[in-house]
Amino acid sequence: MALSRRDFAKRCALASTGTAFGPAFKALAQVQGEHYQTSGHPVACIQDTETAAQKNERMRWFREARFGMFIHWGLYSIPAGRWNGKDIPWIGEWIMNTASIPVAQYKALASRFNPTEFSAASIVGLARSAGMKYIVITSKHHDGFAMFASKANSFNIVDATPFRRDPLKELAGECRKQGIKLGFYYSQDQDWTAPGGAALKTGDHKPPTYHWDPAQDGSFAEYLEVKAIPQIEELLTNYGEFPAILWFDTPTKDMTPELAGKIVSVLNQHPKLIWNNRLGGGYLGDTETPEQYIPARGYPGRDWESCMTMNETWGYKQADTNFKSTETLLRNLIDIASKGGNYLLNIGPTSTGEVPAAEADRLRDMGKWLAVNGESIYATQPTLFGAEAGEFSATEKDSEGKPKFIPGWKWRSTTTANKIYIHLFEWPGSTFNLDSVPRRVTGAYLLADSDRKQLKMTKSGNGIDVALPERAQDPVATVLVLTTA
Ligand code: GLC
Repeated sequence: MALSRRDFAKRCALASTGTAFGPAFKALAQVQGEHYQTSGHPVACIQDTETAAQKNERMRWFREARFGMFIHWGLYSIPAGRWNGKDIPWIGEWIMNTASIPVAQYKALASRFNPTEFSAASIVGLARSAGMKYIVITSKHHDGFAMFASKANSFNIVDATPFRRDPLKELAGECRKQGIKLGFYYSQDQDWTAPGGAALKTGDHKPPTYHWDPAQDGSFAEYLEVKAIPQIEELLTNYGEFPAILWFDTPTKDMTPELAGKIVSVLNQHPKLIWNNRLGGGYLGDTETPEQYIPARGYPGRDWESCMTMNETWGYKQADTNFKSTETLLRNLIDIASKGGNYLLNIGPTSTGEVPAAEADRLRDMGKWLAVNGESIYATQPTLFGAEAGEFSATEKDSEGKPKFIPGWKWRSTTTANKIYIHLFEWPGSTFNLDSVPRRVTGAYLLADSDRKQLKMTKSGNGIDVALPERAQDPVATVLVLTTA
């Protein structure tokens, strides 16, 4: 439905009255996606102009997906956390910044990048076997190296490496074949090898640019014009119906509303595109992006996606073997779904293009649980309860001095029109009690029981007691289904 000029202007004016867009985010010693009051967007974005029905249609697949694969893969997988014989601290994809590697030395890595073990078919197959519904891969990270064919800049995997293939094109073909959505992460603001690209501070790098090599100096506006915006256009044009998502990252103060507006003008040409809250310039995007944590209550009324690593790095680091257990990863997914969010779980392929076995094994194990219990995750709505997720401490404070949230891990819940799913983490013994139920419960069974044998229910005050078998069906989470009218 086309908007009349008057309606469009009215919607922009309404949008421009936006109040502070929520608290400043501080994660990983960086300021990312800081939201602040704006006097209005210089270029109206789709979120300013679409109706609620149009937004719901555009976001539908994302809200039903609940589980996606993040892929951090690039030149940084060659050093893999070590430089000049030394282990470099922190996340692997930041090594050029944290080790202050000169531009020429870092760019020379490209001539050694030949990941011949890369297989789009097996990576997309792994995502599917994990029960993931979409993939977001780093197309260009902060190091400025493009993992795709780019006419805008020759520092890319086709022109600058012996590999000469475009992995994004191969992934797009496989995702199309296997029914998985494909998104691209693009670092629109930081670029440590292009003149004028921004850099967030690490170590003793000096303001105002925090650059460590004169080759990095230049105009940010010009960097956007000659590299970032043309590459965003290439990503939005060259891969058919993909990307379904553009995943921006680490906006800095250089990204003014006017400069961000230039990028939004390009995004507006792709009305089905979903993009996150990290463009900068006061644009809120479609999704909140809590990183390495799960918000206590989610973001009621707002789409969101918690992104996490399986160990402690996004890009591959050979020394990082501190992997979360499959139990933790599955319970994170269930917790996130119970709060109405998506889980974007990361893998970091090696310099040969292979997925570390520790990551692939966990994903396959998560897929086994989802093959039995996925109905209680995909296309569900958040819990009707809430208190089961935990409570704010009356005494302990978090890093910002606010009451610390203490998660409870006995059970979670998700909902559909006529079912309430209860994910039992701790087996309650022979009876599960709900002291109040917001709907009339007509039946109960265990999701893993293919016969759906009805479990005995008895009224208990305003709630119900459900008789359970002696033992849990699944050590990570057994799902109890309550059918409701
Ligand atoms: C942080 C890191 C970046 C990583 C991102 C994933 O922004 O800077 O390296 O890609 O988190 O969310």
